[in-house]
Amino acid sequence: MKELIKKLVECIGPSGFEHIVRDVIKDEIAPFVDEMHVDALGNLIARKGTRKESGLRVMLSAHMDEIGIIATHIDENGFVRFTTVGGVFPRNCPGGRVRFMNGAQGVIGTERAESADKAYTIEQLFIDVGASSRTDCPVKVGDVAAFDRPMLDLGNRLVAKAMDDRISVAAQIETLRRLKDTPHEVYFVFSVQEEVGLRGATTAAYGVDPDVGIAVDITMTGDTPRGTKMEVALGKGPAIKVRDGRMLSDPRLVKLMVEAAEKAGIPYQMEVLEGGTTDASVIQLTRAGVPSGCVSIPCRYVHSPSEMVDIRDVEHAVRLLLEILSNPILL
Ligand code: CO
Ligand code: ZN
Repeated sequence: MKELIKKLVECIGPSGFEHIVRDVIKDEIAPFVDEMHVDALGNLIARKGTRKESGLRVMLSAHMDEIGIIATHIDENGFVRFTTVGGVFPRNCPGGRVRFMNGAQGVIGTERAESADKAYTIEQLFIDVGASSRTDCPVKVGDVAAFDRPMLDLGNRLVAKAMDDRISVAAQIETLRRLKDTPHEVYFVFSVQEEVGLRGATTAAYGVDPDVGIAVDITMTGDTPRGTKMEVALGKGPAIKVRDGRMLSDPRLVKLMVEAAEKAGIPYQMEVLEGGTTDASVIQLTRAGVPSGCVSIPCRYVHSPSEMVDIRDVEHAVRLLLEILSNPILL
């Protein structure tokens, strides 16, 4: 699965510009799906299985987009000023490299610091693409970019930009491929524009009209020096979400996930996330409401150019999803 993960995380695809990632996913899943289409906003929606007597229409969702930046101004010396696409933290930017959709690359520079202990704001940052004037600058106002980094393989631990949420895209692809026998009609959604407000999953869920919704996304951990107080740690299994900043998971679905993990002997953790949310929060509020939950993959350094996951958690997330999808979902 490492090869697939590398292929996915190294694609460029900030919110609204997911077509490169989507084409990779299409090729990976085409031989295994019963049907797939791309909706008006760009969500890739693949169906597998037909509904048997005990079955439901189940929607899974992992987002294809990543955080990025958008050029707002090019000065006379060719320096690019920018604003953010999604939750880019200025503290994670200085010295970082970015790649624009047209292939142009650059490094993020900073203005002279006013005081050593004050964090930079986005307005104090710029991108140097190696240009010397506005005319020879390969970047124009409105061009978008994402962090640019090759994946780092540390054995069980993998580091890359866009692990949020390509690691879950990889998990969904793997689940789709391995799913053999299901009583459900399963919709594997690869959503757009999550990082700018869960926009893709909002329309995808309306279109799919599921009985049950499960997001697959990353979650934060509390296992780094003086980190956030949180139970979730890398390598201890997928996290079953109880709540996050915008959602309370359906408790019946949480119970079903816990029982599925116990039955199959899959390690798992319980997730209580204080901020942030996932596609599940909008699936839950679709139409007249959809019981929803989330299987999370623990991730360190979220929304930095070096997000870290443990490959064993990914494998266990796939096994948990397979266990859930292979059995009746009785709520
Ligand atoms: Co994110
Ligand atoms: Zn995410």
